[in-house]
Amino acid sequence: MRPTAAPPATDVDVLLESEEQRQILEHDARSGLTASPKWLPPKYFYDDAGSVLFEEITRLPEYYPTRAEHALLNGVAADIAAAADAEVLVELGSGSSEKTRLLLDAMTDAGALTQYVPVDVSLGALRAAVPQLRQFYPELAIRGVVADFDRHLAHLPGEGRRLVALLGSTLGNYPPLPRGEFLGGLAATLNDGDTLLLGLDLVKDAGRLVAAYDDAAAVTAAFNRNVLHVLNGELGADFDPMAFDHVALWDSENEWIEMRLRAQAPMTVTIPALSLTIELAAGEEIRTEISAKFRRERIARELEAVGLRLEGWWSDDAGDYALALARR
Ligand code: SAH
Ligand code: TRP
Repeated sequence: MRPTAAPPATDVDVLLESEEQRQILEHDARSGLTASPKWLPPKYFYDDAGSVLFEEITRLPEYYPTRAEHALLNGVAADIAAAADAEVLVELGSGSSEKTRLLLDAMTDAGALTQYVPVDVSLGALRAAVPQLRQFYPELAIRGVVADFDRHLAHLPGEGRRLVALLGSTLGNYPPLPRGEFLGGLAATLNDGDTLLLGLDLVKDAGRLVAAYDDAAAVTAAFNRNVLHVLNGELGADFDPMAFDHVALWDSENEWIEMRLRAQAPMTVTIPALSLTIELAAGEEIRTEISAKFRRERIARELEAVGLRLEGWWSDDAGDYALALARR
């Protein structure tokens, strides 16, 4: 999440000043933890430890979205590359960039691609991914950028016709209102000829959905609790993460998975950096994340609302997962 050491200049660009990032964390933690019900914003899951845990999630038997997206990309990356005809691939929340290689291969084959710009709030993820990618794609200009796509969309590099990708159903981690704002911001950064590619997990059987966010090996539980470790490390808080149960619920009305941390007993937590003490009752929950599931018509409407047109839609035979291509 927050850069802890200055990266070598050749590695990645840092748009996110750690001082600024820290102020935002302080602001977010204060507003979330003094609200009722309590909540925490999801981007703080991804410190270096969190990024490693997320990679573990992607390999869990229950967590089908990564495999579904990979298989789908494997089949349709060439179609996407042809439709986008882009010179630059900008990827938001690129993480390990593992699946992205299917896109990079297809876009390189299509001939126009000259630059890849992986953007992530996690310095650790970029520093692991970028050197490897440079080995695989020696011809490509690869420019990793540490940035918060909630705030730096307008400042992302990349000259030429761009494909902006947001894979892994990361769009689903926004609640509806912020999601609209984010899509609006994205639409505003797209020039004529640019395209937007969204990886979207689709509404399906509740049992499979819940299992994907509550795995038997409890990796997702560890990932969820990691946000408390981040608050301890960054703000000097004294959360006991193991005193919280991981909760994953399917909200059938809103069609999203909701993740919470439930206090096993009454507790008092002090957060020195905020000069704040909070009380939790036994069973009280902190909402940490939603993962909205999509339907074609709904996302088409949301895109339309910000002036984008859904131009391509690819989904797997099982109807588990989709890739959506949009432009202005
Ligand atoms: N695209 C990868 C990773 C998805 S996990 C995949 O499909 O497997 C979400 C990624 O987005 C993480 O790497 C996380 O660090 C990053 N991220 C989350 N919020 C972010 C934000 N506000 N700005 C930039 N990156 C963010
Ligand atoms: N974008 C991923 C998703 O919604 C992120 C994710 C996977 C996640 N597992 C998680 C976020 C567990 C929080 C907790 O599927």
